[in-house]
Amino acid sequence: MQKITILKPDDWHLHVRTGRELKSVIGMSAAQMGRGVIMPNLNPPITNSTQALKYREEIINSLPNGSEFNPLMVLYLTDNTTAKDIEDASKHTHIRAAKLYPAGATTNSDSGVTNVNNIYPALEMMQKVGMLLLVHGEVTHADVDIFDREAVFIKDVLGGLINKFPELKVVFEHVTTKDACDFVVSSSNNVAATITPHHLLANRNDMLAGGIRPHYYCLPVLKRSKPHQSALLGAATSGSPKFFLGTDSAPHLKEYKESSCGCAGVLNAHCAIELYATAFESAGALDRLEGFASKFGPDFYSMPRNQDTTTLQRKEWTVPDSYPCGKSSIVPFMAGEVLRWKVV
Ligand code: NCD
Ligand code: ZN
Repeated sequence: MQKITILKPDDWHLHVRTGRELKSVIGMSAAQMGRGVIMPNLNPPITNSTQALKYREEIINSLPNGSEFNPLMVLYLTDNTTAKDIEDASKHTHIRAAKLYPAGATTNSDSGVTNVNNIYPALEMMQKVGMLLLVHGEVTHADVDIFDREAVFIKDVLGGLINKFPELKVVFEHVTTKDACDFVVSSSNNVAATITPHHLLANRNDMLAGGIRPHYYCLPVLKRSKPHQSALLGAATSGSPKFFLGTDSAPHLKEYKESSCGCAGVLNAHCAIELYATAFESAGALDRLEGFASKFGPDFYSMPRNQDTTTLQRKEWTVPDSYPCGKSSIVPFMAGEVLRWKVV
């Protein structure tokens, strides 16, 4: 196949930051995606409607001229989020979801939830008003191995939460294990998951064999090829509407990644749909890319699918070594490597 045309995709999990970083990266998503679900883990986090709408304004004002990109906003749940915060947010069509970050799980999650019991009133209200719960699914206890944190979260937290709120729509974000894929498949239709391109294309060897590659470091951390990476590829290409596109594109300046304590997050927005096409092609499933990228996400969010289309062409190109950001730069996923698909 030399060309593939699909309905325009959306990104259901995206970090765009603020200020100069926002200006450096937002055009990448706007060039490919119709909508983006914008993660609220700023410092300080986006915890109420006023902050969310102000942040949305900043994003819109940073878009390249003529762009039609639609940022969908998310509240950051804390131990102090009230049912009223949720009810207020639900009145704004641009605010679609709230995000559960277990405290300390990832970048800027210090204000996250210390015990899910603390957010039961908020979850109750979300279930009532139909607001989606987005979950960073990892426990944070020091005694749980970092490669096991997702599986333990399912057992210790997520299973119980879903039983308690069966009507709540839950997106298990950036799943990285076979355990998570199996869990989503066996749960009700109110439970779905996003999968990133880097977890489809890379595993922990890419990050750790022959040297530490900090630009592959993200959370949840890359797992083993078998059974985990292959389970993700299987889930994404299965045609199940429970799995859809969420890049978790999460830019950090080069000096914060290439450091004695490098931070977690991978920029992939520069070629997200090309990366997904590469992964789907490797599984012989390019015909299933459109469902994953452009249909199942809006269906789960009860929003209309995009109407315009995107065409990818078979064409070799080399990913830039870095993108400028102020006086610094951001090193993208697959920097310097050749990809074989390009958006026309
Ligand atoms: C994200 C970030 O940098 O904000 N990092 C990451 O490794 N994915 C946070 C997150 O989604 O966990
Ligand atoms: Zn994320």
